[in-house]
Amino acid sequence: MALNVTFRQLKVFDAVAQHLSYTRAAKALFLTQPAVSMQIKQLEDNVGLPLFEQLGKRIYLTEAGRELHNYSRAIAQQLDEADTVLKQLKGVKRGRLAVSVASTANYFATRLLATFSKRHGSVTVSLDVTNRESLLRQLANNEQDLVIMGRPPADVDLAVEAFAKNPLVMIAPPDHALAKAKKIALARLQGETFVVREHGSGTRIAMERFFADKGVKLTTGMEMNSNEAIKQAVEAGLGLGIVSIHTLELDLEAGRLVTLDVKGFPILRHWYVVHRQGKRLSPVAQAFKEFVLQEGSSLLPYGLEKLHRASG
Ligand code: PGA
Repeated sequence: MALNVTFRQLKVFDAVAQHLSYTRAAKALFLTQPAVSMQIKQLEDNVGLPLFEQLGKRIYLTEAGRELHNYSRAIAQQLDEADTVLKQLKGVKRGRLAVSVASTANYFATRLLATFSKRHGSVTVSLDVTNRESLLRQLANNEQDLVIMGRPPADVDLAVEAFAKNPLVMIAPPDHALAKAKKIALARLQGETFVVREHGSGTRIAMERFFADKGVKLTTGMEMNSNEAIKQAVEAGLGLGIVSIHTLELDLEAGRLVTLDVKGFPILRHWYVVHRQGKRLSPVAQAFKEFVLQEGSSLLPYGLEKLHRASG
């Protein structure tokens, strides 16, 4: 006999499996807890196996529960997709837009989203700023509409389009011995200490690859997971730093930091707009993607042209 379950039961099951709590699932679904328990009880009767087990205060999925959860996830995603396609057919351009960006991209992401939101008043935007590693996890789980980041690894099945240059520059305090030097050879940096971003940062990976390619061994000092912290440490004289030019708009203009004229610099990276290959973008997400590809680079804070002017 075929499995006799309703969409409603699957939806309730999916919520309980996700939250591992009847109370939280009930809240998320705007139901009462007894209503949720009853749906799960009926589903277990239909399936003929327990789907959850209670150990102490917590509930866990049984093996049958885990199997069913794989399917209920897939069905929920298909329903979302059907909803998206139908909305596309209706030409709806409103709704929610969930974007995640790399820490460094946060220096311009708000500007992009603000400009876009002004044009599409009925869009609710959520922005998550996080590191490269967790961006890749979000992409793997298909959690966000779009991600803005440095080039993702080629072995993941992603749609990846570049929209702007991201030059990484070397920064120093204005009174540093090399501040006015021209065409500094990499060998002259051997004695310097570098304040670096955390493992998993795209800037860090690009920096390490650059110096490894040139056979130069860097002395790294403090490690920090934000560009602001790096810039403050460099300003305080704790070492040299390597950051995206897009993080420097205010610091260069205020004369708090200078960029060094080092041979081979800037290290040229690019910014990409990324989503899972084959993902059906909602009309809003599609519109935002097109906006970023067409106008994104003109909205970035600082370009190389200005850098040359700033450093004379
Ligand atoms: P971040 O920058 O991860 O160092 O913040 C993004 C990138 O350049 O990949």
